Amino acid sequence: MLPWSGKELNGRKTMAYQTIDVRPIAGACGAEIFGADVSRPLNNAMGDEIYQAFLDYQVVAIRDQVLTPQQQVAFARRFGEPNIYPFVKGLPEAPEVIAIVKEPHEAKNFGGKWHSDSTYLKIPPVATMLYAVEVPPVGGDTMFSSAALAFDRLSDELKRKLSDLTAINSAALLDGGRAQGMRYANIEVVGHDKMEMEAEHPVIRTCPETGRKSIYVNVIHTKCFKGWTDDESRPLIDYLIGHITRPEHQCRVRWQKGTVTIWDNRAVQHLAMNDYHGYRREVHRVTIEGNSTK
Ligand code: SIN
Repeated sequence: MLPWSGKELNGRKTMAYQTIDVRPIAGACGAEIFGADVSRPLNNAMGDEIYQAFLDYQVVAIRDQVLTPQQQVAFARRFGEPNIYPFVKGLPEAPEVIAIVKEPHEAKNFGGKWHSDSTYLKIPPVATMLYAVEVPPVGGDTMFSSAALAFDRLSDELKRKLSDLTAINSAALLDGGRAQGMRYANIEVVGHDKMEMEAEHPVIRTCPETGRKSIYVNVIHTKCFKGWTDDESRPLIDYLIGHITRPEHQCRVRWQKGTVTIWDNRAVQHLAMNDYHGYRREVHRVTIEGNSTK
């Protein structure tokens, strides 16, 4: 048996992996995976175990990969159908892949506030995958926060109250959607007509595979609760975001060139650290089409 297999994590016993080495990186969520080469078609046992680790840990960082954009898309298909991000043009050889680049002279980064991806879509992406092409010598980590663990730690009364609420998510908020892409000289922005996109989602989502519930509001896209004014909604949205992103709900992925990280957008929020001024960082992103809004 591999060293981390079958360990208990926040009251949950994770499965014993047979084909990959899975090492948790924090108590809340997140694991590294060693011993897989995802550039080639995976046998079912390994593919299923990587998927299971994604469900168990919500964030998995698969180390030491070398991928073309097409190979990244092929691997992404193990998680569902890759979709097209509405606000940034994809690579010519693989339109499902967007390059997120910060040049040494640039001050702002993409994804620098806590969020879940594209919650303004009627069916938001179920997962996001990043592949590290170039990383700074230090810094540029991605932080994750478990909205599932945050749900577990709410009072029963607040869990009940939130379960009755629906949130309205918009692409038009200051840091969301098009506004975010527009800040970067090196990212070609498209989809100017889609800025008004809005979608309603339950505030508490349930993972169809695990039955685990999580809180689904985020600071860059969630506008208000349905039937509540923006002013009435803000204090509770702010409380929930503060609660989700508490340090004990977080993990941190330290990138290496060749790391592939996949996270469950239903269950975690993420933030790209902007602490590497003077260095270049390039990651390639694929988002996976959701199939439900529950
Ligand atoms: C994103 O928000 O999709 C980008 C995250 C990162 O670059 O670490």
